Amino acid sequence: MELIRTVDGMQAHADEARRAGETLALVPTMGALHDGHLALVRAARQRADHVTVSIFVNPTQFAPDEDFDEYPRHLEQDMAALDTVGGVDVVFAPPVEEMYPDGQQAQRVWVDVEELDQHLCGRYRPGHFRGVLTVVMKLFQACKPHLGVFGKKDAQQYLLLRRMAHDLAMDVEVVGVPTVRETDGLAQSSRNRYLTPDERAQAVVLSRAVQAARKRILGGEQRPTAIVEAVRHELAQAPDAKVQYAELVDTTTLAPVSELEAGQEVLAAVAVYFGDTRLIDNAFVQVPAAP
Ligand code: PAJ
Repeated sequence: MELIRTVDGMQAHADEARRAGETLALVPTMGALHDGHLALVRAARQRADHVTVSIFVNPTQFAPDEDFDEYPRHLEQDMAALDTVGGVDVVFAPPVEEMYPDGQQAQRVWVDVEELDQHLCGRYRPGHFRGVLTVVMKLFQACKPHLGVFGKKDAQQYLLLRRMAHDLAMDVEVVGVPTVRETDGLAQSSRNRYLTPDERAQAVVLSRAVQAARKRILGGEQRPTAIVEAVRHELAQAPDAKVQYAELVDTTTLAPVSELEAGQEVLAAVAVYFGDTRLIDNAFVQVPAAP
C-alpha cells in the first residue's frame, strides 16, 4: 500500500496503472474509517484490479458553523484499518494546499447543481453539494478511476454524483454500495462517536423509521402521507430526537412524491439531531405493482 500526497504523484501513478491495462477504482473518504468505508473498499476490490482510497477532509463542503475543525483526523489509524482489509494499492491523502493550491477563495470554477440540491439535506446545507461535487471531480482528475465507489447511506450525495457523471458525460462509473449498520440497525457514521450513550440508544429510531416506510410501501400502502406519518411515528419514540426532515421523494427529481406509481423508485429519508449531532438514514424502495 503506497501513500501518495501530491496530485502530480497520483496522476503519474494512475497513468502507469492504466498503461498496464488495469481497471482503477477510487473510494473517496474523509477518513475516520469504519466498517461502512471498509465495505466500499471490498466492493471496489471486487470490481477493479487497482484500488485507491482517498482521505481528504474537504473544507469546501462544510459550512462555517459545521464540524470541519473538529472532524477526526487519524491517518495512521486509517492506514492500519485499510491494511487489515487488504487489497488497497494506494492511499491518496493530499494536504489542503494540494487540492486548493491558490486557496479555496481563489477557486473560480465549481460543479454546481440545479434544483436537486433544494431538497433533503441540500435544503439545510446550502453550498454543501457544490463542495462535494467539486472535490469529487478533482479527486477523479487526480486518481483517474474507471469506477467511483460511494455509499448509499449518503443517498443524495450518491444520486447527485451519478447525475454529475451523466450530465457531464464523464467516463467514470458511479457505483453505490448498501449501508452498513450496527447490530441494532444504526447506520455506521463517523459522527456516531459524538453521541452520548443515551443518545446512541435512542438513535436506533432512524433505521426503524425508514424500515417502517419500506414495509408500508412493500405492503401496498399507496398514500405518501400515511407513509411519512409512519416514519414520524417511529422517530417520535426517541424523546431527544429533533427531526430536521422526514420525507418520501422520487430518486430522479428528489422532490416529495404526491402519488406512488408501480415500478417507481422512491427514497424514504430522514435527518435527525441529537444535541448538536446530526444523523441521516434512508431506504431506497421500488414501488410494487398494485395488488
Ligand atoms: P465520508 O463521510 O468519509 O464517506 C465516505 C464514503 O463512505 C461515502 O461514499 C459514504 O456514503 C460512505 N459511507 C459512510 N458511511 C457508510 C455506511 N454506514 N455504509 C456504507 N457506506 C458508507 O461522504 C464523504 O465522506 C465525502 O462527502 C466525500 C464523498 C469523500 C467527498 O468529500
